[in-house]
Amino acid sequence: MAKLNVNGKDREFEAAADTPLLWVLREQLDLTGTKYGCGIAQCGACTVHIDGAAVRSCMVPARALKDSQKIVTIEGLSRNGTHPVQRAWQALDVPQCGFCQSGMIMAVSALLKTKPKPTDADIDAAVTNICRCGTYNRVRAAIHTAARGGGTRKAELSIQHADRSAT
Ligand code: FES
Ligand code: FES
Repeated sequence: MAKLNVNGKDREFEAAADTPLLWVLREQLDLTGTKYGCGIAQCGACTVHIDGAAVRSCMVPARALKDSQKIVTIEGLSRNGTHPVQRAWQALDVPQCGFCQSGMIMAVSALLKTKPKPTDADIDAAVTNICRCGTYNRVRAAIHTAARGGGTRKAELSIQHADRSAT
């Protein structure tokens, strides 16, 4: 059995050396908020945080990760959907079918930690996720709403882990 730290908990899993993190999250840990879209790092539906950075989990072999690395999925982003990005998403009714949205939110929440007031160019460079419903304009507006609303203070964007670290 190998171990991963996911959403603040140590979780055990079994996988071949090349099994992507995405499949371990969805099929063994029941964290199905992270979606499979393309499997080739193009769509961003599978985006999670690893040590605070947005990563496409379809391209990361789960066994290549150390159990000291902090993985956060959409289920661990906040309690009750209260992360500033989730609040902005709700305020602007961003999702349509919703399939791409957890990956979008994980990409945006990582961006705001490094750029609390991103420009449109920053957003274009960092959030390359694909949305088949075409929610791009509303995604952009919601990012600016989160940034304007003061919801980008470090404390609000940080994810606290059980060992008292934060990413
Ligand atoms: S499923 Fe990972 S980028 Fe599309
Ligand atoms: S909301 Fe449907 S794919 Fe993005």
